[in-house]
Amino acid sequence: MTEFNKSNWAKTDFTQQYRDNADIYIVERRRLLEILKSFYRHFLGKREQNHIVDIGCGDGIVTHGLLEIDDSIFATLIDGSEDMLNKAKERLKGFQNIYYIKASFQEILEKGILQQKSDFIVSSLAIHHLNMDEKREFFRLIHSNLYEGGYFMNIDVILPPTESLDRWYMKLWEEWMDERKASIGIEGKPSSDIIQRYKDMEENKPDTLNNQINALKEVGFKEVDCFYKYGIFTIFGGKK
Ligand SMILES: C[S@@+](CC[C@H](N)C(=O)[O-])C[C@H]1O[C@@H](n2cnc3c(N)ncnc32)[C@H](O)[C@@H]1O
Repeated sequence: MTEFNKSNWAKTDFTQQYRDNADIYIVERRRLLEILKSFYRHFLGKREQNHIVDIGCGDGIVTHGLLEIDDSIFATLIDGSEDMLNKAKERLKGFQNIYYIKASFQEILEKGILQQKSDFIVSSLAIHHLNMDEKREFFRLIHSNLYEGGYFMNIDVILPPTESLDRWYMKLWEEWMDERKASIGIEGKPSSDIIQRYKDMEENKPDTLNNQINALKEVGFKEVDCFYKYGIFTIFGGKK
């Protein structure tokens, strides 16, 4: 596992750049959030005071989306970056029952950071920083920290199953970024550079959707499925 402190996410200029450009880099980010909200409303929305955990919360965008539709939520946001957690605190100020934990994924796995059971555990664009064995352990930990009937949703990038699909998915991603930049009238870095940087970053360890779906089933999740897919961008999860 890449140590958090040695990863780019420990650098404030890198986290700032992500926050500034996430709506360009992340394919259909708004739609991803809408799907998350619809899932929450459908499967969890009838209950009051759901306990949710947002792993690799960044600036809190995911939890914020959920609080917009249910402000009775008790939320725990976890991230290795102090800078990201501070931005999350800013975004969520005004909401009650929000707890923040600064911890790396290593610490989550090794130190029993997730202690309370939850109704919903969500992660967005973070778990791909773990290798497949670590992902499996993480999924196991998430499963054991959910109440019976609780849900896990992972919004994340995946490894295409073949090189030929990889080449097309990267093209699709490049086309998305070019279109976004044109629609908001900015030039920015060439999209191909962003893709190259994603590929070169040691801490990006995506695995295939199949392997991750199988891992979720292996650790005991039911109703496992891919809820959305656009090239390498996916949403998948399951129920305990
Ligand atoms: C791509 S950002 C996603 C942020 C947010 N969930 C979103 O959807 O915009 C990845 C987040 O994972 C966190 N992260 C990356 N590697 C980590 C690690 N090893 N331990 C803890 N957090 C990590 C980063 O600090 C960052 O906030």
